[in-house]
Amino acid sequence: MSTVVIIGSQWGDEGKGKIVDIYTGYADEVVRFQGGNNAGHTLVVGEETTVMHIIPSGILHPGKRCFIGNGVVLDPKVFFGEIAALRARGYCQDDRQLVVDPAVSIIMPYHRAIDVAREKRAGSRKIGTTGRGIGPAYEDKVGRRAIRLEDLIYPEVFATKLHEILPEKNFLLEKFLGEAPLDEQEIYDEYTAYGAQLKHYLGNTSILLNESLAAGKRILFEGAQGTLLDIDHGTYPFVTSSSTVAGGACTGSGVGPCAIDAVVGVCKAYVTRVGEGPFPTELHDETGELLRHKGHEYGATTGRPRRTGWLDMVALKKAIQLNGLTGLALTKMDVLNTLQTIRICVAYKLDGRTITDFPSDVRQLTRCIPVWEELPGWNCDISGATAVEQLPAAAQGFIARIEGLSGCPVILISVGPRRDQTIQVQNPFETGKKG
Ligand code: GDP
Ligand code: IMO
Ligand code: MG
Repeated sequence: MSTVVIIGSQWGDEGKGKIVDIYTGYADEVVRFQGGNNAGHTLVVGEETTVMHIIPSGILHPGKRCFIGNGVVLDPKVFFGEIAALRARGYCQDDRQLVVDPAVSIIMPYHRAIDVAREKRAGSRKIGTTGRGIGPAYEDKVGRRAIRLEDLIYPEVFATKLHEILPEKNFLLEKFLGEAPLDEQEIYDEYTAYGAQLKHYLGNTSILLNESLAAGKRILFEGAQGTLLDIDHGTYPFVTSSSTVAGGACTGSGVGPCAIDAVVGVCKAYVTRVGEGPFPTELHDETGELLRHKGHEYGATTGRPRRTGWLDMVALKKAIQLNGLTGLALTKMDVLNTLQTIRICVAYKLDGRTITDFPSDVRQLTRCIPVWEELPGWNCDISGATAVEQLPAAAQGFIARIEGLSGCPVILISVGPRRDQTIQVQNPFETGKKG
């Protein structure tokens, strides 16, 4: 097996960063293929915690090349801020460890301003975005007016494009959204400086990754957000603006679908969601508060409290189908340590009917009532377990039930935030659909 895609199987924050950090140990190269710095991926190594927003989570492994593929929207200020913070701690010492594709779309100040102003204007109908300019940046990409990295590095090309685009953005900001217009010269000065620095990281992701594949190298694709936030398949309009499903790894990096060997879905032992939108298994009681408290469920990007709820197998089934998952990485099992009983949603009741397919229409989803299955809790601390056999019977039963209901093998169990709090059942680089 030479390629593994990691994706979030829920609404994000499943623990993808941790899993990518671990699997980078077996890989040669790591690729971000969609999203931007709306992501917050946490890596805990020893006593040290690192949160990556735009740089791939493989960066703590010296010598492993990290790519930012064409499908990403890049905020240069955040990118350089992350590099500086990593360097100060002894990581990312060699610039050649990072490669940025020339076709990435640049997140511009007007994207951030429009994102925040639209949310403000929407009031109670807001999406609850991260305010990082992600939606407006992807709108410009699809609208064929994005400033790509390959434009930014040529000051005269950038100047012409900016001069064309900015009046329309300022019109929207001033006349419709009631915000202050942005200054063209200021943007030009700041962003040409970024362009000059970004030149050093330029590399064609598709060509380089295909060369690596031909050379038998192992590539890990790092998804951001989660399946239910996908622009096509998620709980629209309460989604992000990119293809978060496994298929996005191909379009967002320039490798063909047949090059993908395994797809691992990261799945929390319960569910969280940040921002607005339907969430059938959400808990509004003390159990929900316990999950938030024990799981430290506060956004890694915005610090917002995450909404919490029980594991939803209807949603997970959808994630398995959409991504072609070959394995599940089950995280945060330890957060359930003190519970007497644990619930899993196995179906929904919708308008009196029992359904097991996740509705695509959010209005229907809002009316769905979970059908529960109750399992015994293990009521002890599992955060030191290093093998499946060390887990209490009830914890093993919980995992077996997830496998039974989903038909997908659990290939990794995470029992704490640290790298070493991980039970690996199967290495996806060694086994997988073609293994
Ligand atoms: P990501 O966006 O999918 O990478 O996930 P986040 O980093 O936003 O959120 C996951 C949080 O859970 C982080 O604070 C991780 O350090 C933490 N975490 C990951 N796995 C585990 C686990 O198995 N147990 C516990 N208690 N925390 C975990
Ligand atoms: P990681 O990669 C959780 C959510 C926002 C909002 C919606 C749209 O850390 O799992 P956007 O700013 O993307 O336009 O916001 O998507 N969202 C995330 N939720 N984890 C993330 O990333 C998220 N990235 C975006 O909260 O509901
Ligand atoms: Mg996160």
